[in-house]
Amino acid sequence: MFRMFKSLEGFIEPGSEEERLADELDFSRIPRHVAVIMDGNGRWAHQRNLPRIEGHRAGAKSVREIVETSARVGVKYLTLFAFSKENWKRPKREISMLWGLLEDYLRKESKTLVEKNFRLKVIGQKEELPLSLRKELDRVEELTKNNSSMVICMALNYSGRTEIVDAVKKILKEKDIRADTLDEDEFSRHLYTGDLPDPDLLIRTSGELRVSNFLLWQIAYAEIWITPDYWPDFRKKHFLLALLDFQKRERRFGDIRPRK
Ligand code: IPE
Ligand code: IPE
Ligand code: MG
Repeated sequence: MFRMFKSLEGFIEPGSEEERLADELDFSRIPRHVAVIMDGNGRWAHQRNLPRIEGHRAGAKSVREIVETSARVGVKYLTLFAFSKENWKRPKREISMLWGLLEDYLRKESKTLVEKNFRLKVIGQKEELPLSLRKELDRVEELTKNNSSMVICMALNYSGRTEIVDAVKKILKEKDIRADTLDEDEFSRHLYTGDLPDPDLLIRTSGELRVSNFLLWQIAYAEIWITPDYWPDFRKKHFLLALLDFQKRERRFGDIRPRK
């Protein structure tokens, strides 16, 4: 057995299953960018005869734990899908309570984000969010913009297709871009995630086998890991399992041999 990596000491209980998993991790091969479709909050609540919002509230705890686990193992970019453009179809009450929860989360966590040197970045059409939430998001993004230990990228009112259309619109407005020289790298820089590398690992909870319009361009070669567990039950153990599974994959990118 390896000795548990220093950054996890005090976070993982000695003798626990998590410790055993952490011991197996190869810390030189941690995915740089992990993206998560946090799904199943409503079903988690339904199982317990609770209103859906209680599932979202419980899901916020998973967010805290996964942010901390990611930082401790050395993930550099963590993208969290929190609200899709399609989610506006839901009851107004659920949506407004969700925004309330998120605003609360930001108020409570912004100090920690600063202390831990995390940067918050929002992707999605922020203009359509309620004003007070937008202000809070802007405040925290501004407050943390120079932080460098990890980027927490929050996808809010996000749609992968809209992101691509928005990139095309930006490109069409730029005078010095020429159709015959436009390439994938230049196109990527016009996406909301322009300054982020593509995700290496995509996690989805609650067992659905679909991408639900998330990061359509960016996940071209992401490794996908899906668990039946609902998001509020997702803990560091599950995250470590996903990382270990990722480390067993052979990423070939079309070649016949694995690429480093
Ligand atoms: C994911 O959980 C959170 C959001 C989409 C906001 P859901 O609310 O989709 O929960 P289920 O999928 O209905 O169980
Ligand atoms: C995807 O979950 C969006 C988020 C996790 C924010 P949904 O619950 O909206 O996805 P579908 O409708 O089951 O595809
Ligand atoms: Mg869902």
